[in-house]
Amino acid sequence: MMLKLNRIKYVFHYNYSTNAKPFEEIPSPKGLPFVGTLFSFIAAGGSTQLHEYIDKRHQQLGIIFQEKLGPISSVFLNDAHEIRKVFVGEGKYPKHVLPDCWLLYNKIKGYQRGLYFMDGEEWFMYRRLLNDKLLKHDYYGHGIQNDYLLQKTFEIWLQNSKYGEIIDLENQLYYLSIIFMMSFTLGRSFHDNVDKFLPNVEKLALVVKDIFKWSVKLSILPATLASSLNLPVWNNFVTAVDESIKLTTDLLEGAELKASDGILYFLLDQNIPIDVAQRIIVDFLLAAGDTTALATLWILYLLGRHKNIQDELYSDIQKNRDSHETRLLRNIIKESMRLYPIAPFIARYLPQETEIASYLIPANHLISISVFNCSRNEKYFPKANKFEPKRWDRLANGKYAEVNDPYATLPYGMGARSCIGRNLSKVQISIIINKLIASYELEVRNEVGVKLNMVTTPSQPIKLFLKKR
Ligand code: HEM
Repeated sequence: MMLKLNRIKYVFHYNYSTNAKPFEEIPSPKGLPFVGTLFSFIAAGGSTQLHEYIDKRHQQLGIIFQEKLGPISSVFLNDAHEIRKVFVGEGKYPKHVLPDCWLLYNKIKGYQRGLYFMDGEEWFMYRRLLNDKLLKHDYYGHGIQNDYLLQKTFEIWLQNSKYGEIIDLENQLYYLSIIFMMSFTLGRSFHDNVDKFLPNVEKLALVVKDIFKWSVKLSILPATLASSLNLPVWNNFVTAVDESIKLTTDLLEGAELKASDGILYFLLDQNIPIDVAQRIIVDFLLAAGDTTALATLWILYLLGRHKNIQDELYSDIQKNRDSHETRLLRNIIKESMRLYPIAPFIARYLPQETEIASYLIPANHLISISVFNCSRNEKYFPKANKFEPKRWDRLANGKYAEVNDPYATLPYGMGARSCIGRNLSKVQISIIINKLIASYELEVRNEVGVKLNMVTTPSQPIKLFLKKR
C-alpha cells in the first residue's frame, strides 16, 4: 500500500508542482491573427533556416517559448533537463509527428508502412521484437564488412573524379547506405549475388533522395491542396515514393533467401507475415538512406577541413588494424553528429498534461525539441561551435573531458521511440570512414553552411578531394 501511494505521489509530483504556471503564460513572440509569425519566419529564410530562427527566439524568449508558424502551433524547448521530462512523460506508446504528404500518400494508396508510421500496440509489438535484434551491438548480418565492394567503390570514385574531386559525393553515399542496408537485410544471400542487385541499388539511391527533395517542397503547403490541384510537386513526390517502394520490393522479391543471417530471414522466422516484413524493411531502407549518407557526408567534411585530426585518426587506424572502430573514430562520429544532427528537431505529443520548464503543457500539444540548438549550447559544450572530438575523452572520474551534459545532444532521439538503426548506422559509418582514411587523404576545399531540408544538409555541394596514400 505504501509503495502504491509513493508511486502515485511520484507521478503527481512529476506532472505538476504547486507553482506551475498556466500554458498561456509561456513566452511567445507577437504575431498576426491566423498567420502568427509566418511573415517574419519567411523573411528570416523560411524552413531552410529554421534552426537559426529558433536559435534567435530562444535567445530572445528563453529555454521555452510557444509560436504559431502558419497553421502549426508548437512549444519549443532547448534545455537538456526539461527535454528529459518530455521523454519521461511520453507514455507507453510515444507519438511523434509525421509529414503531411507521407500520411496522405499512404491514405490515397491504401499503403501500410513500417515502424516509423506504426502507432499503439502494433508499434509496441514490432518495436520490442526488433529492439532485441537491432540494438544488440553484434548483430548486423553477414558480410556487412565487404571490404572488396568498398575498396572497389572508392577506386571508382577516384577514377571518375575531376582532378581528385569526387563527383556526386552525396549520391555516392546514398548508394553505399543502400548497399549496407541490403547486406543487413539479406546477409550472405546479397553478397553471393551482389552484381545482380547493384543496378537496382543504384536506381534506389537516386529515388530515395528525391523523396526528401519533394517532401521538403511540399512542407510549405497543405498536402491535400497540392494533391487536389494536381500540382507537379505532388506528382513528383508520388512518383518518387512509388518508385522507391517498387524498387525495394523488387530487390526483396528477387532475393533467394539461402542464408539465415539477414534481418528478413529473422522476421520470417518469427512468423511475421511476408507483407509486414517487407514494409518494415522498405521503411528501414528509406530511414537509413538519407540519414546515414548525410551523417557520413558531414564527417567527411569535418575531416577534410581538419587535417590534424585526420592525421591523428590515420595513425590510430594503423595501430588498431583488427577493429574498424577506434576510440578516436567514435569521438569523431559523436562530435560531428553534435555539430550537425541530421534530425534538427524532434517532436512529441504527450498523452497527459505535463509540467515542463514550470509551465503546464496541455495533453496532445505539439512539443518541438530544438536538437540543433541544444547541441551547440555553450552551457553544455564549451567552445560549442568548434569541432573537438577530444571533448568526448573520458577522464579518470568517468566524466567526459569537455561535455557538461552528454544528453544535451540527441542525434538519435531518446526513449522508447528513439532511432532503432543507431547501432547499425554507427557500424556503417565507422567502416566507411576507417577504410577511406586507411587508403586516402581527404581535403575539402570549400566552407559550407547548413540548409535544413527536413534533415540537416550542406548549403552547397561539398568539394571533397581524394589522394591515394
Ligand atoms: C546516422 C544515421 C541516423 C540518424 C541520425 C537517425 C536519426 C533518427 C531519429 C532522430 C529518429 C527519431 C527519434 C525520435 O522521434 O525520437 C529516428 C527514428 C527511426 N530510425 Fe533512424 N537514424 C539514422 C539511421 C537509421 C538507420 C540505419 C535505420 C535502419 C534501420 C533507421 C531506422 C529508423 C526507424 C525505423 C525509426 C522510427 C523508430 C520508431 O518510430 O520506433 N535509422 N532515427
